[in-house]
Amino acid sequence: MKDFDIHIQTRLLFGPGNEKKFYDHIISVGKRIFVVIGGGSVKRLGYLDRITQGLKKSDAQILLFEGIEPNPTSKTINKAAKEASEFKADVILAVGGGSVMDASKAIAGLVYTGEDDIWPYVLGGKKMGRMKGAVPIAAVPTTAATASEVTPYAVISNPETNGKSPIGYPFMRPTVSWLNPEFTLELPPTTTRDGASDILSHVFENYLLGGNASPLSDRYSEGIIKTVVETLPLVIAEPDNYELRARLLWASNLALNGYQHAGREPSGFVMHSIEHAISGFYPNIAHGRGLATIYPAYFRWMWKHDRCRDRLAQLGERIFDIDKDDVSYASLLFITRFEEWLQSNELYQSLTDIGVKEESFDDIAQYAVDVYGNGKELQAYPQRCCAGRRPGCPRSRQRQKTNGIRQKDF
Ligand code: NZQ
Ligand code: ZN
Repeated sequence: MKDFDIHIQTRLLFGPGNEKKFYDHIISVGKRIFVVIGGGSVKRLGYLDRITQGLKKSDAQILLFEGIEPNPTSKTINKAAKEASEFKADVILAVGGGSVMDASKAIAGLVYTGEDDIWPYVLGGKKMGRMKGAVPIAAVPTTAATASEVTPYAVISNPETNGKSPIGYPFMRPTVSWLNPEFTLELPPTTTRDGASDILSHVFENYLLGGNASPLSDRYSEGIIKTVVETLPLVIAEPDNYELRARLLWASNLALNGYQHAGREPSGFVMHSIEHAISGFYPNIAHGRGLATIYPAYFRWMWKHDRCRDRLAQLGERIFDIDKDDVSYASLLFITRFEEWLQSNELYQSLTDIGVKEESFDDIAQYAVDVYGNGKELQAYPQRCCAGRRPGCPRSRQRQKTNGIRQKDF
């Protein structure tokens, strides 16, 4: 078991029964509430009215900002932050998916610092790491996907540079989040599937590169994977089933709330590095969809280069009851079975199927390694790996002829 440090200050309120507690908590923080939403789905579905009416009973003053786009842009965030500053917001309240929650965190940071542009603060930017604080944030997730309602991260896009890059500070974790599965009952099948893919990716990223040091984290992760693998087809068949939606929403939170990596080696989040680069170049691609597209190539690449086969085999045994005596065979069988699952859930496609042109592959890969890697490769091996120095290490063979993940089979 490796050392770890976890400090999650977000109060998590789950279920409709906690509605009043949520409003009371927000009001106890401040009454000038800047509410941020996306393209209007939460308005259309009545969620926004329900929440603003609830807050107004406690004399809250509310200013609404509408129009955060999926894969939120720095331009829209900057505009919203100006309005929130002029309003002298005490609290930024996000009602929406990961895009709205991420935008709200960035807005909260800009309001606190008095700055007018978020882009220099992202990973790779000139002011990276220099943000000093954020106005308190509250969140109501309406997708089961990112766990942004509890994470310290926000992922920002800048279409002018084809960039998509994160910002992360402990003070960007929301102070309170209300996870109400009712708000996910109307999610369309595609968004539901994209979200499930994102949840799984958060578990895989930690699991595959995290090593064997934390058996309890393994069981915890496998529980999330199994829940999502079993629940997604049921939800698609019965979209307005509260209990099923609740399972996915809670799974999404558990997958990235910080507990999963406890006792493990840190992970380079390779699939996320690549996916963020993809949707930076193609903002119409949903994050979870991009990830689903990467899984098969990444898993097979790992297998081919003899990385983490033991971890893939263990997943095979525990998710699909595959006998793992022969690790090489069992790990490959896990990949195949998982691909079949993707297929049966309409999540199996190539990059070109989802609109990525082959001529942009190199630019995407370069962006990924420049911003998320060391300029040459991503960290697709356990962090405390010998980096190729130990005889027989798969990485030493790898180093001789490739740039890691940038090679052509990506
Ligand atoms: O814009 P609106 O009208 O709200 O419509 C949205 C959007 O079109 C719609 N939607 C949301 N809730 C709905 C709904 N439609 C019907 N019923 C509802 N209840 O769904 C569409 C997608 O929304 P979006 O917020 O973009 O999706 P998601 O929650 O998957 O968030 C994706 C963003 O989060 C980032 C991703 O990179 C991407 O930018 N991530 C954030 C993370 C974090 N903060 O920790 C971690 C993740 O790995 C991820 O990178
Ligand atoms: Zn993700």
